[in-house]
Amino acid sequence: MKNEEKKSLIIGITGASGALYAVHLINALMDHVPGQTQLIMSPSGLRVCNEEMDTNLSTAQDYLDWIMERRAKSDSLHSFSLEDYRDIGARAASGSNHHDGMAIVPCSMKTLASISHGLTQNLIERAADVTLKERRKLVVVPREAPYSLIHLRNMTSITEAGAIVLPASPGFYQKPADLDDLGRFIAGRILSSLGIQVRLFRPWLEQ
Ligand SMILES: Cc1cc2nc3c(=O)[nH]c(=O)nc-3n(C[C@H](O)[C@H](O)[C@H](O)COP(=O)(O)O)c2cc1C
Repeated sequence: MKNEEKKSLIIGITGASGALYAVHLINALMDHVPGQTQLIMSPSGLRVCNEEMDTNLSTAQDYLDWIMERRAKSDSLHSFSLEDYRDIGARAASGSNHHDGMAIVPCSMKTLASISHGLTQNLIERAADVTLKERRKLVVVPREAPYSLIHLRNMTSITEAGAIVLPASPGFYQKPADLDDLGRFIAGRILSSLGIQVRLFRPWLEQ
């Protein structure tokens, strides 16, 4: 299924477990969604990716190159511009940077807490803060287990402010054959929450 409408998005990748979800989201955009994404990766996001995906990447550019290298296809409907996590004056920091939605995947409890309290100490946190103030779509994919009351309160608070909390909890009714199926499930849910309908897995009623 191909989305015809061009989309302009922001994706933040932080240091929670679940690097695979961001990889699948980026691949789904390249395969199905024309448009462009401003990509911001925290140093911890890169570190967790190296731990979980057995990579040895030093920079966000290495990460993007690695994703392109492991793709079966060379063409892409979607382009990505890397924004510096520390550059709180980058495009994504401004309310006049019009976009169709932002996803933070995976989202650490630290970044969740910062968004919940209006702290904007790096570009991911600033872009999320601006997305909420401009009443645009913000999808946050938190991961921790178990949750403390603080985590739960922060999730409630950003939901009250208009964000969508989409837990990194893939469904098993789709009978996943491998980790990639789980990754596609969450990537599809994120896109759907951003208002982008892409068929990445078989819906429940078609099982
Ligand atoms: C291997 C590894 C796994 C981690 N998993 C999680 C996690 O699942 N959830 C979480 O909130 N933090 C996790 N952390 C801790 C965060 O990376 C840490 O709090 C960091 O400061 C988050 O910064 P960021 O939100 O700017 O990326 C993990 C760290 C490492 C090294």
